[in-house]
Amino acid sequence: MKDRDADKHLAAAAAVREVCDDMLVGLGTGSTAAHAIAALAERNLRIETVATSLASARLAESLGLRVRDFAEVSRVDLAIDGADAIDARLYAVKGAGGAMLREKVVADAADRMIVIADGSKRVARLGGTPLPVEILPFAKSYVTARLKDFFVHMVERPDYRTDNGNIVIDGHGWDDSSLPTLADSLVAIPGIVGHGLFLREIDAAYIADNGIVTRLERGANPR
Ligand code: 5RP
Repeated sequence: MKDRDADKHLAAAAAVREVCDDMLVGLGTGSTAAHAIAALAERNLRIETVATSLASARLAESLGLRVRDFAEVSRVDLAIDGADAIDARLYAVKGAGGAMLREKVVADAADRMIVIADGSKRVARLGGTPLPVEILPFAKSYVTARLKDFFVHMVERPDYRTDNGNIVIDGHGWDDSSLPTLADSLVAIPGIVGHGLFLREIDAAYIADNGIVTRLERGANPR
C-alpha cells in the first residue's frame, strides 16, 4: 500500500533543497505544502517567506520562519505549493484548500514556482478533478447561472469563506479540451475573482510515488 504522507514529505524535502540563503520564498497551502514549511524550518536558512494563506503563515511562524506581508512584496524568488491534479504539461488544478487566488498571485510573482505532490495527483487529464471557483458573495446567483455553461453540476462549499471573504463553488464535469479558453472565459465573468486552473505559473514539479521522486520541468517532459 502506498504511504501518501511519506511521499508528500519526500516531494517537499526535494523541493526545499532548491532554497538558498537570502531567498524570499512563497509558501503554499495544504498538507503537502505543510511538509515543505516544516522542511524549510528544519534547514535553518537565512530566508524570508510570504504565505498564501493565514493557516500557512501561522504554521510558518510557529516553526520560527519569518513571514512578510505579501501586500508589501512585488517579487518572490521561489514558490513551493501543492496541487490537486497536475498533468505532463505542468497544467494543474489547485484550490481544494480554498487558497487558489493568493496561491496564483504568489506563483505569478515568483521567479520559479514548484509544485510538490504525491503520485496520486499526477493525471493524464485534468477534467476529472473538481475545479474551484472563488466568487464575490454579492455576485453568487449571477455567477452560478453563468457557470452552468461550463459545469455539469456545481457544489457551493457550505459555511465557507476564503481568507479573502469570498465563497467557493466547486465545478464538476467540465470540458478540458481547451484549457486556455476555459480559463479566459471564467476570468471574463464579473464576480469571479479567481479559479483553480494554473496553466502558465508552474515551472517544475517534484512528484513522489512509492518513495521515488521525479522532477518534471516545463517544456522538458515527454508527453
Ligand atoms: C490549496 C491547494 C493545495 O495546494 C491543494 O489542494 C493540495 O493540497 P494537499 O497537499 O493537502 O493535497 O491548492 O488551495
